Amino acid sequence: MAEQPQADTDRARRLREESDAHVLKCMGDVDLGLIEGEGTRVRDAAGKEYVDAISAEWVLNLGFRNPEVKQAIVAQLDTIDYVSPVFESAPRTELASRLAELAPGRLSKVLFALSGAGAVEGALHLAMRATGGTDFVCLDAAFHGRTFATIGLTYVDPGMVEGSNKGLDRYLPRQMRVPSYYCYRCPLGLEPGSCDLACAEYVDFALQKGHTNGPAGVIVETFQANGGMVPAPDGYLERVHEIAKDHEVPLIVDEVQGALCRCGPMFASEVAGIEPEMIVLGKALGGGLPLSATIATEEYSELLPWEYGFTQAGNPVACAAALAMLEVMVRDDLPGNSERMGGLLVERLRELEKDSKLIGDIRAQGLMIGVELVRDRETKEQAFAETDALMAACLENGLMIGKSGPVFGANGNVVKFKPAVNVGEDEIVEIADLFAKSLAEVEATL
Ligand SMILES: Cc1ncc(COP(=O)(O)O)c(C=O)c1O
Repeated sequence: MAEQPQADTDRARRLREESDAHVLKCMGDVDLGLIEGEGTRVRDAAGKEYVDAISAEWVLNLGFRNPEVKQAIVAQLDTIDYVSPVFESAPRTELASRLAELAPGRLSKVLFALSGAGAVEGALHLAMRATGGTDFVCLDAAFHGRTFATIGLTYVDPGMVEGSNKGLDRYLPRQMRVPSYYCYRCPLGLEPGSCDLACAEYVDFALQKGHTNGPAGVIVETFQANGGMVPAPDGYLERVHEIAKDHEVPLIVDEVQGALCRCGPMFASEVAGIEPEMIVLGKALGGGLPLSATIATEEYSELLPWEYGFTQAGNPVACAAALAMLEVMVRDDLPGNSERMGGLLVERLRELEKDSKLIGDIRAQGLMIGVELVRDRETKEQAFAETDALMAACLENGLMIGKSGPVFGANGNVVKFKPAVNVGEDEIVEIADLFAKSLAEVEATL
C-alpha cells in the first residue's frame, strides 16, 4: 500500500456518522471504516493498518486487489460489461467449462447465481426436480444462507423466530435436522473413535422416517464454519454419501466457504475423497465480485424454463475475474500453499496451546483454522467474554481475525483464521506473533 497517511480521525468520524444515519445494518456493526487494501494489508479510515487474517470475510482468497484478477476485470470491461443470461457469453461458458474440468467426479453442469444462498437454492431446485421430493436433511449448527428457503436449512436460534414476532416461521420449510459431527462436544455424548459415527446414521433414519413429502437430498458442509469451525471426522462424509445413494437422493456439499483452496484442495470434498452429486460455490468465486454457482452431475441438471435464475447471474466481469483467479490458483499450486501455510500456522498455535489458559481445541484443514476458547479445559466451559476481549486485543494490535457468530447456532467462543490462500511464510509468522501477543495480553488479565 501507499505510505501511511496522517491519521484522519475526522474522516473516520464522518464515515461513521453517515453510516449510522443511512446504512441499515443487519450483519453486525464493527466501528471501523475500511478504505484501502492490498494483499493481506488493509487500512481503516483513520489511517491504521491491519494484517487481514480472514481474506475480508473469506471472500478475497487471493488477497486485496490481486493484480491478475484486476487486469482480467479491466480487460473484460474494455470488451463487454454485461450480457443478458439468455444470450451466450464467452466468460460464462469458459468459466463453466473450467469449473467442470476442475471439479471432482462427474460434476459437469454449472448453474450460476449471485450469492451463496442463491446457489444453495439452485441446488434445492435441481434436487427437487430430479427426485420429486421436497424434504432435505440438514445438520444442526449448519449455515446455508438467510433467504427464506435457506434459512430453513440454517440453524436458527428458536428465540430468533419466536422473538421476531413477524410470522417468520410461516416461510420456513420444515427440513429434517440431524445432529452434527461436533466431536469436541458430541451432541450424542459419545467419544470419537468408539462412536461408530452414530451421527451419520441419523441421516439414514431421517431419510427413512423423517420426511412428509418425500426426501429430496442431504445438504452438508464438509467443515462447519459458522457452526464453530468443525471439520467432518474421518469417514463421516463417505458414510453420509453412501446413505444418500441408498435412498436415491443427491448429496449436496455446501462449499461456499470451503472451496477454492480454503481447506487445501481446490474443492473441499476432495479432502474426504468424495464425489458428491452437487457442490455449491459462493463467496470467493468471483474474485471479490458477486458470483456463485451450483455444479451438478448430469442426472441432477434439469430445470423447467424460467424456473430459476437471476438477471445478473453469470455476469461477464465477475466470470472473467473468477477465471483469472482459478488460473492463479492452479499455476501457483495454491492448494499446496494452503496446506503448507495452514500447517505452519497450526504448528505455531499448538505451541501457544501448551501454556495457554484459554485454548481448548484447534481444528484445521488447510487455511480453514478455528481455535475454540474455554475457561477450563476439563469442563470445557465456553469463554465468551474472553473471546470478545481477544478479538478486541487483536484489532488493537493490528490483526483481523474472525469469530463464529452466536446467532445461527454457532459458538461465539471460536476464533477463526482464514487468510488469503496465497499468503507467504513471513505473513503467517506475523499473524502468529500478533495473535500470541494479543492472547498473552488477555490471559494476563485472567
Ligand atoms: C457455508 C455457507 N453457505 C452459504 C452461505 C450464504 O452465503 P451468502 O451470504 O453469500 O448468501 C454462507 C455465508 O456465510 C456460508 O458460510
